[in-house]
Amino acid sequence: MSAVSSPAKSIHELPGPKGLPLVGNLFQIDLSIFHQQLERWCDELGPIFKIKMGSAAIAVIADPEIINQILRDRPTTWRRRRTIENVIAEMGFNGVFSSEGERWRRQRKVVALALNSAHLNQFFPKMLATTERLMRRWEAAAASGESVDLCRDVMRYTVDITTQLAFGVNVNTLETDGPVIQQQLDKVFPMIGKRMNAPFPYWRYFRGPKDRELEQAIAGIEETVNGFITDCRQRMRDQPELYEAPTNFLEAIIAAQTAEQGENFGDDEIYANVVTLLLAGEDTTANTIAWAGHYFMEFPEYLEQVRAEVDALCGTARSLTEHKQLSELPYLEAFANETMRLKPVGPLFPMEPNEDVELLGYQIPKRTPVIALTRHIAINSSNFGKPDTFNPERWLKSSEVDLAPHNTQAFLPFGTGPRFCPGRNLALAEIKMALAMLCRNFDLTPSDPNVPVKEKLAFAMLPMNLKVRFSRRKQN
Ligand code: HEM
Repeated sequence: MSAVSSPAKSIHELPGPKGLPLVGNLFQIDLSIFHQQLERWCDELGPIFKIKMGSAAIAVIADPEIINQILRDRPTTWRRRRTIENVIAEMGFNGVFSSEGERWRRQRKVVALALNSAHLNQFFPKMLATTERLMRRWEAAAASGESVDLCRDVMRYTVDITTQLAFGVNVNTLETDGPVIQQQLDKVFPMIGKRMNAPFPYWRYFRGPKDRELEQAIAGIEETVNGFITDCRQRMRDQPELYEAPTNFLEAIIAAQTAEQGENFGDDEIYANVVTLLLAGEDTTANTIAWAGHYFMEFPEYLEQVRAEVDALCGTARSLTEHKQLSELPYLEAFANETMRLKPVGPLFPMEPNEDVELLGYQIPKRTPVIALTRHIAINSSNFGKPDTFNPERWLKSSEVDLAPHNTQAFLPFGTGPRFCPGRNLALAEIKMALAMLCRNFDLTPSDPNVPVKEKLAFAMLPMNLKVRFSRRKQN
C-alpha cells in the first residue's frame, strides 16, 4: 500500500458481485449477516473487490499485511469510517472510539492510562467479588433449572466490572432484577450498525419504533451516567486528594478538566467517554465469554483440558483468587484465542483513507469506504491450518499437533496499531475469571439442542439463540 505515485487500475475496475442497475448490491445485503455475505463474495472474487450501495462504491479488503498496515497508519493516512463518528456524535457520545485526530489523541491518553495493568492489579479484589456474585446467580439458575440467555447474564457481569473499575460505582446489576442499564445499552450497538449503513439519514425525517426506542434508551443512559458524574464530582470535593491521585478513569478525566496545565476536557467529552467505555466494555467481552461457553458445550474434550488446568491452580477454592493466577492459564488462554479467531466481536472493520491510496494495484480515492475483513483472514487456509476446525492447541507452544501455517498477523480480535483496544487486558482478565469459575463449578447444556446458535452482526457480532441450563458440576 502506498500513496499514489504510478498509474494503477481504477476502483471501477475492481471485481464485484453482480447487482442491479442504479441500486447496485443494496437489496442483496442483509445487515445482520453482512460479514458472512462479504466473506462469501471474498471467496469468489479474491482479496480485494467492491460492492455498490446505490451509486457509491465500497472497497473490501482481505489481505493480512494490508489490513495491518491500514490499522497502523492511523490517525494520519487512515481513519474509522466517517459515518461512525457522525452517527455516534448525533447520539451524543463522540468519545475515544469514534473521535479522530487531536480530539482522539487527548482522549486516548487518559483512557489508556485508566485501563493499564497497574490499575487492573489493584482492582483484582473487586473483580473477584463480582465473579462470586456471578457464581451465586448461576447457582440459583442451577437450582431452579431455568433456561438462561447466556449473553444477557454475562453482560450484567461485564457492566458491573466496567462501572466499578472505570467510574468507581457498584451498580450491582448481577443482583438486581428488573430493568437495568444493559437493556438501554443493548439498543445502541444495533442502531449504530443500522444508521451507519443507511443510504441516507432517514431518522432525521422519519422515526420508526426502533428509533423511538433508541431515544428512550439514550435518555435513560444519560440520566444514569450523569448520576455517576455528579456523584464522582461530589466525592472529589469531599476528598480533594483525588485530584492529585485519581483512582479511576472518571476521577482522572475530571481531575484533568480542572488541572491548570493539561488537557481541558469539556463536560460533553466526559459524558461521551463514560458512555463509550460502558458500550465498548459490555457486549464485546460478554459475547466472547458467551461464545466460549458455547464451545465448552461443543467440545467437551477441550473443556476437560481447561478444567484440569483450572482445578490444579485453584486447589480447594471455587474460583481464581489471586491476580497472578491470571498469567498461569495457558490452556484457557489458548481456548479464548481460538474462540476469538472463529467468533471475533469485530469480524469487519469499516475504514476510510484520508488521502488517495493504492491497495493491491487499485487506486482508492480518499474518503472511499473500505471494509477490512478481519475474520476472513483468520479463517483462511493460507493463514491458519485446518482453519474451520476449533482447536485451542494451535495456540500452545508445547503442542504436538501440526496446524501450520500460523500467521498471527491474521489474528486481530483487538485490532492493532495506535488504536488497538485499550481494554484488552481487562477483557482477558474478565474472560479468564468468568470461564475458570464457570468450568470449575458448573456443567452447561443447551436449553434447546434443536435450535442452532447463529451469528448476528449488530455493529458487534453476537451469538443468537444461546440459551443454556446450568447444573452443578458432576465430579469425575
Ligand atoms: C473481548 C473483549 C473485547 C474485544 C474483542 C474488543 C475489541 C476491540 C476492537 C476490535 C477495537 C478496535 C481496535 C482498532 O481499531 O484497532 C476496540 C477498541 C476499543 N475498545 Fe475494545 N474490545 C474488548 C473489550 C474492551 C473493554 C473491556 C474495554 C474497556 C472497558 C474496551 C475499550 C475499547 C475502546 C475505548 C476502544 C477504542 C480505542 C480507540 O479508538 O483508540 N474494549 N476494541
